[in-house]
Amino acid sequence: MRLLSCFLVLAVSTTHLCDAGPLHAQCRADWYFGIRCQTVYEALVSQIKKWQGRDGCKMGGQRCLYKLKSSSVHFIAAKHTSPLRGNVDDINFRLVSYPFIVSCRVSAMSVSESWYRVKDHGANYCNLYNLMEGSGLTQASGYREVTSDFMCTQRSTANCTVY
Ligand SMILES: *[C@@H]1O[C@H](CO)[C@@H](O)[C@H](O)[C@H]1NC(C)=O
Repeated sequence: MRLLSCFLVLAVSTTHLCDAGPLHAQCRADWYFGIRCQTVYEALVSQIKKWQGRDGCKMGGQRCLYKLKSSSVHFIAAKHTSPLRGNVDDINFRLVSYPFIVSCRVSAMSVSESWYRVKDHGANYCNLYNLMEGSGLTQASGYREVTSDFMCTQRSTANCTVY
């Protein structure tokens, strides 16, 4: 609904109201792989479990405090808590495989639970990207990412080493 009203605003006026990104701190991104969804699923779930505790953030960054909520090969739901400020973000991955070729599309979403968060320094994007990178999926065959500043708050300036 938010996205829709954003499009409508763009359509009826030339103001750049939506240039700054979503109206709430969040990120929507699609990742494509030339490997089976089962493999992608296992990599993501095992990475979420590896980063449950605080250890991953000992040297800084946000690669810790993930919590798996539910998982099936088609849908993974988790939470991520910022070790610094305690902000909680809800994340999910929807996995869709193509029947005739070995490939998998992952539609991912991360949304800050606090309704008032508008800026996040790209943290919602990093919530998702860090799992892709940490699990080695960014090196997988056919890896491709589709997102933008419009779909992800402050995506282009995100530094996932920090956030
Ligand atoms: C991201 O932050 C780290 C740690 O502060 C820094 O070393 C690195 O250069 C930054 N990367 C970019 C692309 O700004």
